[in-house]
Amino acid sequence: MILDLFKLDGRVALVTGASRGLGQSMALGLAEAGADIVAVSSSGECEEIEELVRETGRRFWHVKCDLGQPSDRVGLIDRVLDQTGRLDILVNNAGISQRHPPEEYPLSEWHLLMEVHLHASFDLSQQAAKTMLERGRGKIINIGSVMSYEGGLNIPAYAAAKHALAGLTKSLANSWGKRGINVNCICPGYFETSMSHVLQDDPVRGPQILDRIPVGRWGQPDEIAGLCVFLASDASNYMHGSTVAIDGGWLSR
Ligand SMILES: NC(=O)c1ccc[n+]([C@@H]2O[C@H](COP(=O)([O-])OP(=O)(O)OC[C@H]3O[C@@H](n4cnc5c(N)ncnc54)[C@H](OP(=O)(O)O)[C@@H]3O)[C@@H](O)[C@H]2O)c1
Repeated sequence: MILDLFKLDGRVALVTGASRGLGQSMALGLAEAGADIVAVSSSGECEEIEELVRETGRRFWHVKCDLGQPSDRVGLIDRVLDQTGRLDILVNNAGISQRHPPEEYPLSEWHLLMEVHLHASFDLSQQAAKTMLERGRGKIINIGSVMSYEGGLNIPAYAAAKHALAGLTKSLANSWGKRGINVNCICPGYFETSMSHVLQDDPVRGPQILDRIPVGRWGQPDEIAGLCVFLASDASNYMHGSTVAIDGGWLSR
């Protein structure tokens, strides 16, 4: 039965940045599809997603880790495996956004953004691949952006990191596809989360963005969960290295 391919019963999914926003929605979707959830965030605030996951009857672990600190990431997946015994799905979602004109962009912020979005995604993928390659199966989902295709305004580090994530997705997919790991990238458009409130509330940019979205509204966080479940499930076993936009038509304009 086709719907059985989407089931994730017995699998363990690690979602970075699961404390709120798109990460929380994807973590809940994966749990509703049957997966136990490991939520990674830098703050201790994961009570909401913990309650939501436990309501589905799945197991939940919270791992506190500042992904912007390479030392914090050392041995992260081994620590997770000690608790869960297995890891089937990795969603590299955690992110930050900083806006400055390029000529004023502080290098310290550039490095931090690259660390959280790009370096941590590679680091965790490399760590997760060890167990996934051993077992000959695994799903890695990177969260890019429409800025994996476009330059945006005053977000040079974010656009560079999101383009790089699309490239990393393709490179890892080429290396690991034959060995049972699917690596793909979800590229969201404009979704209502705490990260995007600064744009939504901007009296100039807010209406400009809304006007440019063909479907005429911002995305709701729960609208990304289905795509994540698909890419985490056996229904997407022949997808490797894809960057999939979910953007209300933004990139088609
Ligand atoms: N919202 C959009 O319109 C949109 C569009 C395209 C792409 N995206 C991408 O989607 C992803 C999620 O964005 P969002 O809108 O859901 O953002 P959000 O609501 O601000 O959530 C960001 C998440 O990342 C975690 N995080 C941030 N810095 C971290 C760090 N150093 N270490 C560990 N965790 C960290 C946060 O948890 P803590 O604060 O507890 O650490 C939080 O759970 C990001 O990669 C973003 O670039 C979003």
